Amino acid sequence: MTTVTEQSLELDEAGLRAIGARLAAVLQPGDVIALSGDLGTGKTTLARAILEGLRHTGEVPSPTFTLVQYYDALDPPIAHADLYRLDTPAEAEPLALDDWLVEGALLVEWPERLGRNLWPEALWLRLDGAGTPSRRLTWRAPPAWESRWPPR
Ligand SMILES: Nc1ncnc2c1ncn2[C@@H]1O[C@H](COP(=O)(O)OP(=O)(O)O)[C@@H](O)[C@H]1O
Ligand SMILES: [Mg+2]
Repeated sequence: MTTVTEQSLELDEAGLRAIGARLAAVLQPGDVIALSGDLGTGKTTLARAILEGLRHTGEVPSPTFTLVQYYDALDPPIAHADLYRLDTPAEAEPLALDDWLVEGALLVEWPERLGRNLWPEALWLRLDGAGTPSRRLTWRAPPAWESRWPPR
């Protein structure tokens, strides 16, 4: 069995955005990036940096109310989900996120709302430390991400 170890890094906002840009460069169809952490820790900030790294130029609204925002003109196409408002994992089924992963990649805030249904090959990132200029980014990179994370 592969041991997946946790590591972490202290980042200011520019540093976190730089990580997002680098993630954009290695993102492939079928990838899931789970963005975990309390309100205001920077999950949407990181998602925006990834989208901008993929040369998205318009707005990136927080998907808190729509649950998912789609950016299908990007390469790879991106679905940005925020599952904060889900009450049960079953409510995610109509979102058909697995279908999206055939051709697209998924950035998902509040992934724990999916319970145990979270994709085992997801890159798991957690942000801590809202209310200060720096954030602690903790990660768990499964084998599918080992050659791509941490991004250089
Ligand atoms: N080091 C940092 N990393 C990320 N965001 C930061 C950092 N320092 C300050 N911030 C601010 O914290 C807020 C994070 O908000 P947001 O990304 O919407 O959080 P979340 O999606 O986790 O609720 C933004 O206003 C951002 O400017
Ligand atoms: Mg958010």
